[in-house]
Amino acid sequence: MSIGNKVIDEGMQGEATILASDNSAANGKKLYLESYGCQMNFSDSEVVASIMSGEGYQTTRNIEEADVILINTCSIRENAETRVRNRLTDFKKKKEDNPDLVVGILGCMAERLKKSLLEEEKLVDLVAGPDAYRDLPNLVEEVGTGQKAVNVLLSRDETYADISPVRLDQGGISAFVTIMRGCDNMCSFCVVPFTRGRERSRDPQTIVQECRDLFEKGYREVTLLGQNVDSYRWNISSKGEIRDENLPTTNFAQLMEMVALVSPDLRVRFSTSHPKDMTDDVLEIMAKYENICPYIHLPVQSGHSDVLYRMNRGYSREWYLERIDAIKRIIPDCAISTDIITGFCGETEEEHQDTLSLMDIVQYDFAYMFKYSERPKTLAERKFEDDVPEEVKGRRLNEIIEKQLSHALLSNQRQIRTVQKVLIEGLSKRSEEHLCGRTGRNSMVVFPKSEYQKGQYVMVRIDDCTSATLLGEVVSKC
Ligand code: SAH
Ligand code: SF4
Ligand code: F3S
Repeated sequence: MSIGNKVIDEGMQGEATILASDNSAANGKKLYLESYGCQMNFSDSEVVASIMSGEGYQTTRNIEEADVILINTCSIRENAETRVRNRLTDFKKKKEDNPDLVVGILGCMAERLKKSLLEEEKLVDLVAGPDAYRDLPNLVEEVGTGQKAVNVLLSRDETYADISPVRLDQGGISAFVTIMRGCDNMCSFCVVPFTRGRERSRDPQTIVQECRDLFEKGYREVTLLGQNVDSYRWNISSKGEIRDENLPTTNFAQLMEMVALVSPDLRVRFSTSHPKDMTDDVLEIMAKYENICPYIHLPVQSGHSDVLYRMNRGYSREWYLERIDAIKRIIPDCAISTDIITGFCGETEEEHQDTLSLMDIVQYDFAYMFKYSERPKTLAERKFEDDVPEEVKGRRLNEIIEKQLSHALLSNQRQIRTVQKVLIEGLSKRSEEHLCGRTGRNSMVVFPKSEYQKGQYVMVRIDDCTSATLLGEVVSKC
């Protein structure tokens, strides 16, 4: 098996990943798959690789030998789309040298722009939205017969539950497991409900089975993925009614417990929680199981209730801070991270100052921070003016980043002289003599290699830090 080559790693959005795997029943054709966007896109690419390998396609990391190029795309901000367009222009040049090459666009940008990419812009041969991946083999065949290959139908029930994703980082330690798709929230700035369709949850038995298989293959960490994991529900309607009295119901807290019970040596993480839906029962399950990592990504977006109202987030500053208090009360050492948008429509200086003051109260361990980027068709685009000047958005973003870096450094300094349980992920990027791994709180730790190996748990004494990394030494094996 070849190893998946993560070109740029660990990001939530807008980053590229080139994937490769091997397969036995090859048809001699090679698929090159490149992914941008969030973890859900990364996870979807593994589903795509599985569907295409069922047709005999072997995945390659070498674009020059590809018969089919698929690019899995993101629409969350304008610059995410610009990056993909540049890539598509590169691919178009390749087609001039090799007219048989099939170039297809998948994911959120495919769903948003639909056949215009094929007809008006003539950038690709094939367009498949996030719920149309089972159709990919047919679509590729249609291209071969000179037809327009487009499937952007969104589904109310597709979860790809029965498809066993091809893990593209063979020998990996940490895997993403999608537990739900779509989003029903309609935050006013967000394109996701338009590109991913209605929210639906995946059968819990298939989730637990996938986690069990991963553990047996040597994985030691799973991240349960959804746009709003707190609204995961199985056999429960959106009104809270039981759908089938003869079947058990499952909510997110129960699902997490089922996954935690796969093995005490399997770490469980999840993303993303939504402040309006995160309930104490989830926090209590986290506190109960040592292998559910004490780390919550709880996007706030803004620290001012009026902005949150315009964003249609469904909570106020006070509600959010109460949820933070609940986390600190129930899981005292829990790490907390967030997403923040600066310069949303009508954001005043005072409202921006309130985001900074909220950051001072919460003291996030980590944050993803963005300038507001207006997206077509969203509620904000229709209702509000994108009226904060670019330089003001930029200045506010810098203030937020600066504050965050100081909080991250403080958070890391507080870890010095503590002993942390670390799951070893592999060699440190900077030195072959060092290993790296994460604490339960999701901090990256670097320490001398000695006799230890990836996939092991070790206790590490933290001696020093930067704002991004902890440095330490192993004191014992677990
Ligand atoms: N489902 C998650 C977020 C998914 S998108 C949640 O509800 O929190 C990831 C992040 O991208 C968002 O949290 C938001 O901070 C950012 N984002 C989304 N739309 C954006 C836009 N139009 N401009 C700038 N940032 C945006
Ligand atoms: Fe977008 Fe809001 Fe849904 Fe998150 S919860 S994906 S921000 S609409
Ligand atoms: Fe981007 Fe779609 Fe994810 S818009 S952030 S790839 S859900």
